[in-house]
Amino acid sequence: MNAGILSTGCDYPKGVLTNADLEQMVETSDEWITTRTGIKERRKASPDEYTSQFAVRAGRQAIERAGLKPEDIDIIICATTTPDQILPSTGCLIQRDLGCVNAAGMDVFAACSGFIYGITMVESMIRTGQIRYGLVIGAEVLTKYVDYTDRTTCVIFGDGAGAAVLGPVEEGKGILSTKIQSDGNYEEQLYARGGGTKLGTTHETIDNREHYFKMRGNEIFKVAVRNMSGVSKEMLEKAGLKVEDVDLVIPHQANQRITDAVAKKLDVDPKKVYSNIDRMGNTSSASIPIALDEVIQSGRVKEGDVVLLTAFGGGITWGATVIRF
Ligand code: COA
Repeated sequence: MNAGILSTGCDYPKGVLTNADLEQMVETSDEWITTRTGIKERRKASPDEYTSQFAVRAGRQAIERAGLKPEDIDIIICATTTPDQILPSTGCLIQRDLGCVNAAGMDVFAACSGFIYGITMVESMIRTGQIRYGLVIGAEVLTKYVDYTDRTTCVIFGDGAGAAVLGPVEEGKGILSTKIQSDGNYEEQLYARGGGTKLGTTHETIDNREHYFKMRGNEIFKVAVRNMSGVSKEMLEKAGLKVEDVDLVIPHQANQRITDAVAKKLDVDPKKVYSNIDRMGNTSSASIPIALDEVIQSGRVKEGDVVLLTAFGGGITWGATVIRF
């Protein structure tokens, strides 16, 4: 049984944080942020907003657009690095709020690659007949983990959620190839150490701002380009396709320069590479499903089109998926 994406949805905060706002908060400029990242503005949750709220709205939209009922969903995977709380999982809270009474809810913790991790797991469950319908949601409120005194990270990240319903599709369509991978040797490229069992949450960890994300942006840059382009080529080959066969590439929206460098390494026409980073910033696991929802709703992706998704994130983690719609 082939598995494919039946429908998508997305949701994000109304609050917008512009480069001009950031100029008032840290020593930076619109010019620096735009030329180094391509970002002009990003969405920012208010203090009383949290991850599962955006995830539930995105998920509900996707279920309705698939013409399904909440009880049809067999599994909900929430890809997030910014859960509502430590326990229970955000996936369980989403399962409750959506009324998916027959579903197992769980989280996948794979940073910006989380959505690809989720669809890779659900694809195999559908293909092997274990389940019929799965809901994969990438949802983040990163701005609550961002240190707004650290200009090297605070300009990058934004909030939001994107969702996809996966289910059986006809032969020759759907997910043609997909792969996920990680290498924990690079843990120091992007991390937040506070709050876990190693350091715990103490006055000291909070004073040292250990609960915030820390990033070695320059080092991530090189590995991200190498791994995203490498796994993309591998998955195209596995699907029996050439780069010319791809109608649209949706890379994780990390930084416009990373996207441009991946496009160049793949030798793909830049017009075929989607970007919304100017409006959304880097929303980690939510970036690909939000972008996917935008291209599907706008009619940019049509039946028969081949779409390549590729992601890279802290861990490090990476992956790619080739889909025929
Ligand atoms: N405004 C102004 N100057 C800044 C700045 C900011 N927001 N952030 C850093 N700088 C400064 C640095 O302090 C440094 O100054 P120095 O030369 O005096 O030391 C200079 O700009 C260059 O810093 P560098 O880190 O080399 O810049 P960069 O070109 O690598 O761009 C990132 C920085 C973070 C934008 C870029 O590395 C990046 O986007 N990396 C990937 C990040 C990412 O995608 N992370 C998520 C993983 S999926």
